[in-house]
Amino acid sequence: MAIPDTFLEELKERSDIVDVVGSYVALTKRSGANLFGLCPFHGEKTPSFSVNRDRQIYHCFGCGKGGSVINFIMDIENLSFPDAVQFLARRAGMEVPEDAPDENRSRRSRMLELNRDAARFFHAQLMAGTGRAGQEYVIKRGIVPMVKPFGLGYAPDSWQALTDAMTRKGYTPQELVAAGLARVGKNGGFYDYFRGRLIFPVIDVRGSVIGFSGRILSDGEPKYLNSPDTLVYSKSRSLFALNLAKKSKSGYILLVEGNIDVVSLHQAGFDSAVASLGTSLTADQARLIARYTKQVVICYDSDAAGQKAVQRAIGILQPLDLQVKVVAVPGAKDPDEFIQSSGPAAFRKLIERSDSQIEYRMAQIAGQYDLTDDAGRVRYLQDAARLIASLTGSVEREVYGMRAAEKAGVSKEAFMNEVAHVRKKDAAGAKRQRDREETAPLRAAQPQSRALRYENVRSAVAEEGVVGLVYRFPEMFGALPLTGADFTAPVLGRMFDSLTRRAREERSLSMAALSQEFSPEEMTLLTDIISRGGVSASDAQRAMSDYIEKIQTEKEKAGRADDLRGYAERLKRTKGYGSKDG
Ligand code: CTP
Ligand code: MN
Repeated sequence: MAIPDTFLEELKERSDIVDVVGSYVALTKRSGANLFGLCPFHGEKTPSFSVNRDRQIYHCFGCGKGGSVINFIMDIENLSFPDAVQFLARRAGMEVPEDAPDENRSRRSRMLELNRDAARFFHAQLMAGTGRAGQEYVIKRGIVPMVKPFGLGYAPDSWQALTDAMTRKGYTPQELVAAGLARVGKNGGFYDYFRGRLIFPVIDVRGSVIGFSGRILSDGEPKYLNSPDTLVYSKSRSLFALNLAKKSKSGYILLVEGNIDVVSLHQAGFDSAVASLGTSLTADQARLIARYTKQVVICYDSDAAGQKAVQRAIGILQPLDLQVKVVAVPGAKDPDEFIQSSGPAAFRKLIERSDSQIEYRMAQIAGQYDLTDDAGRVRYLQDAARLIASLTGSVEREVYGMRAAEKAGVSKEAFMNEVAHVRKKDAAGAKRQRDREETAPLRAAQPQSRALRYENVRSAVAEEGVVGLVYRFPEMFGALPLTGADFTAPVLGRMFDSLTRRAREERSLSMAALSQEFSPEEMTLLTDIISRGGVSASDAQRAMSDYIEKIQTEKEKAGRADDLRGYAERLKRTKGYGSKDG
């Protein structure tokens, strides 16, 4: 949702941070423009939580939390950004403008109404005598108890049933086409898109019916038909049954391939099952999952396509800091078949014993080679070493390394040597990559004015960062372990000293005031630095420590270089002395 900047500005103006924070925190101390109180975000006995009325920001020197009044509400009320805006707007008596223009919004809500009416129609058909074929099918699949909770339906095997029923309710055929429920025929007439199918409504987390999947009742193609993407439906951003799974107390989301798998699993008591609906998992779907859980259990189909999709899904889920487990269903093609043949208890056992993904991947690798054969063992070792080398934890590497070594019948030492070798190669590659990335922007980082050339550009870039942060958040950085003398670029050092001195003395940091101290070239550089922006108040602390670390590293490098030069000098002198002597 895009909320206009102008609205946010006005909202902030009408939500004085001292008032807002003051209703949660007793701001008992004052120092200049800053008010202090006990931080609500971490336990403390002496106040290190500050609010600055002029700059309308808060910052805790203890835990590092900070930002605008909106960030404060997000943190303290545990709300998303849009919800925090909503919260403050209500308090300030303002109305949040909707992002979609009115016309679009009403088209969306009308399409959702149509979808709901269509879902009701399909459901009624399944319940009524006309839906005999559908009824027999849900009986055959053993999912009768799930008809109601999932709002399952039946699309009659007719060209017009839905279109007729919906036009009688006042929807136009064009509206049905736009919603993906009808199509335009060759003769210009309209016909139902879903015919003779078991209907699974796709319901979003707000409870709106956004689309449908329909399964054919007999053998035939296509087996499943899905709504096309519409104004309200994007298949790659939706998960089937997330509306139910989000309420689960299981602590994980069970990710499966098919509609029937989901229904069957819910019936068996696995109420956190969702499906990605035919598409392999997308990044949007993964992010959606990450909003509701920290742990994902993947149980895809047993065929090669399913197992390939598992690997892809792991790659998409892992970067989101989700813990991923993989379950395979032995002797069955998918979880539905497994549940039907072995029962819920057996499936629960599978989940409980489910491999961590690393074990799963190791088993995958082992499965590819003949370990009774020397050549097979060598290739297994190479592959397994590559996998284990990619683990970040050294304990993990040891544990899995031991297992892999055992499996291949080599000593653990030999195997771990191979792992170390791979890691060294990877590290060297990564360093080359970093160096390439780092030196390219260096040339661009030089100030425009030749008179201000930086000698150590790497350090100067960090120094610029420090100057920028001190300028934008002066109250945050009252006491830094740094003075202008630590800077490699004298001009940046002077800027730093001036800004921190002014902040301490609560003097103006305005451009007009600063231009009395700095030359026009220097002012150009300073404006350039501070207009780069980027870092938000909440990230400022981390950014600052990164910069300082960088400056220190560069300093150490230079120090070592100096030492080396000194050493070389001394060496030369001794040599000279020696040669003279000898
Ligand atoms: N799918 C799809 N379009 C197809 C085939 C499959 O959208 N033409 C999606 C459906 O969501 C389906 C899932 O992919 O549920 C898995 O497909 P498949 O394994 O072929 O079907 P099953 O789930 O096993 O369906 P069923 O048990 O009903 O045979
Ligand atoms: Mn199936």
